[in-house]
Amino acid sequence: MGIEGAAESVAVRWARHGVSVIDHPLVQHKLTLMRVKETPTVEFRRLLREISMLLCYEATRDLELTATTIETPLTTMQAPVLAGKKLVFASILRAGNGLLEGMLDLVPSARVAHVGLYRDPKTLTAVEYYFKAPEDMHERRVIVLDPMLATANSAVAAVDRLKERGASDLRFVCLLAAPEGIERLRSNHPDVPIVTAAVDEGLNSHGYIVPGLGDAGDRMFGTK
Ligand code: URA
Repeated sequence: MGIEGAAESVAVRWARHGVSVIDHPLVQHKLTLMRVKETPTVEFRRLLREISMLLCYEATRDLELTATTIETPLTTMQAPVLAGKKLVFASILRAGNGLLEGMLDLVPSARVAHVGLYRDPKTLTAVEYYFKAPEDMHERRVIVLDPMLATANSAVAAVDRLKERGASDLRFVCLLAAPEGIERLRSNHPDVPIVTAAVDEGLNSHGYIVPGLGDAGDRMFGTK
């Protein structure tokens, strides 16, 4: 079986668990470049922005449309426009911001929420230090952003907090997911579908995704 066939069966398998694996060749190619340890910060950021647009495309695939009457230079027609809920992109700081820019390129009118969580290096649990979100979360589709779904401690804490604020229609978008993180997020929040570019083998003893791409925040911001 060629690499396309293998990727397709991964996507089909994970779809049964509420996970959309975006096996589009452009996404897979760009992700490979991001994994390479020599890829410099400037390139890493550019690739992340590009991939995030493609992930956004998938995460918004089921947005509702309504028909409106418009006039083209030739005639009048009924044409589709977005209807229903407006969007909020909820960035889990700081790495979530790397996905945010590409999302806003595609949906510039979306609101943005920020959830500041850091991972306690000893316990790997999520500790909140910042939270700011629009008031009308209950009326919006919320797309939660974090490039790496590893232990899912941050993801679960962020979704808990967003639901507390009234959100009830959520998606989780990441670049890479570990099976452990998927299992944890889906068991805590089975109503939240996951969109990712790949599902990797698993976590190492430090909670890093393997083979992964390292620390996404460090790689996008050039820190160590
Ligand atoms: N966060 C990262 O940035 N990378 C990982 O591999 C896991 C969590």
